[in-house]
Amino acid sequence: MQKVLFVCLGNICRSPMAEFVMKKLVSDAKLTHEFEIASAATSTEEVGNPVYPPAKRKLAENGIGCAGKTARQMTRADYEYYDHIIAMDHSNLRHINHIIGSDDRGKVSLLMDHTPHPHDVADPWYTGNFDATWKDVTEGCSALLEELKNINQ
Ligand code: 4NP
Repeated sequence: MQKVLFVCLGNICRSPMAEFVMKKLVSDAKLTHEFEIASAATSTEEVGNPVYPPAKRKLAENGIGCAGKTARQMTRADYEYYDHIIAMDHSNLRHINHIIGSDDRGKVSLLMDHTPHPHDVADPWYTGNFDATWKDVTEGCSALLEELKNINQ
């Protein structure tokens, strides 16, 4: 069992998209029993709020639901519990380090660092461009799953 936590600033756009895309990829690969997947925020800004409607629509357009998900803030206990803490951008990394103190077990990485061309996941909050986020998230999650499958073998 590998436990994966996706993290962004608000936990209403990028990290829930990654959470539910990853759950779909894992389900399609018939590996649901081998993974536990969740997402969380670095900030308290959106705690308790559901997935932002345009992000929810983008998932729905691709046949992926996200019912019941509400934003929560990451804690130090999450760092102990999860095996992989996957941040969406460099700013998330700074905030995560503030929450956890230090990544002494080397669990924290950037989603797109698992692809051949590392960059921050496109942030749709100010641009409204959820297509760009979708493209990054699907590519990043596919690459991450390939890596984690190899760890499981
Ligand atoms: P997310 O998007 O981090 O991808 O969930 C944001 C959501 C809320 C805010 C910023 C980004 N905010 O400033 O409240």
